[in-house]
Amino acid sequence: MSAALIDGKAFAEGLRQKIAKFAGEFEAKAGRKAGLAVVLVGEDPASQVYVRSKGKATLAAGMNSLEYKMPADSTEEALIAKVKELNADPAVDGILVQLPLPKGLDEQAVISTIDPDKDVDGFHIINAGRLSVGQKGFVPCTPLGCLMLLKDRLGDLSGKDAVVIGRSNIVGKPMAQLLTDANATVTIAHSRTANLPEVVKRADIVVAAVGRPEMVKGDWIKPGATVIDVGINRVDGEDGKTKLVGDVDFDSAREVAGAITPVPGGVGPMTIAVLLRNALVSAYRRENIALDEDAL
Ligand code: GUN
Repeated sequence: MSAALIDGKAFAEGLRQKIAKFAGEFEAKAGRKAGLAVVLVGEDPASQVYVRSKGKATLAAGMNSLEYKMPADSTEEALIAKVKELNADPAVDGILVQLPLPKGLDEQAVISTIDPDKDVDGFHIINAGRLSVGQKGFVPCTPLGCLMLLKDRLGDLSGKDAVVIGRSNIVGKPMAQLLTDANATVTIAHSRTANLPEVVKRADIVVAAVGRPEMVKGDWIKPGATVIDVGINRVDGEDGKTKLVGDVDFDSAREVAGAITPVPGGVGPMTIAVLLRNALVSAYRRENIALDEDAL
């Protein structure tokens, strides 16, 4: 049996259309567009690609995109001054400082300068704390996107056994929190987990976010499980070209799982869509305009 494919690209497209509709309503009610500011320091090619696609997606959703490019040798003081300027700018609802930062710039120091109520990445420790105690804040985009795909596929997650492989602050930990809040029974596995294949085999839901190409094998997966692959790894293909693979060995997992996200086209497209969602939610909150946030 071959697993159903979870089409993150199509889901993200649907979400972007909803966002565009709500962005139009926001503009009509607030008399201005929602605004997302992105700060890029240096010239890392992958970061330039990300920032360009974020900018395009923001405009396509009917929101304002403000891009600030700073030289790679910028001082931490200059970057922090830029963040403070954006904190104070009423036209800016969301601030994203593209990571990684060039060497010598302290990411934590910069992120903790962002106004938590404009921190649409959900990386500020205040937002990590809010998520941890169940207060309204911002949740990191990738795990929130994974949760949306899971709920779309499975409906109620109550009582499901979930294993999250990876314990990063950006994906693994918030993912585990979100699944716990959705009443799943959650195990966080990582590089030191004993008998990882056995741990994974118990799970109705597997979220792989370890950054190791094709590590999770088909025979680790419980038949019928739902597999969410967060990994994006560039490896050498057989034809001499490089290709993208996930953290899950797709071909073997597909034979066992009930449903699985492909790489590319699974989780990846969700991240930018959720970023736009968070920026628009921020705009509604900042203008005190009512919004059913769960509908987005
Ligand atoms: N670099 C790669 N992905 C991301 C992201 O989602 N947010 C930020 N700030 N930097 C990134």
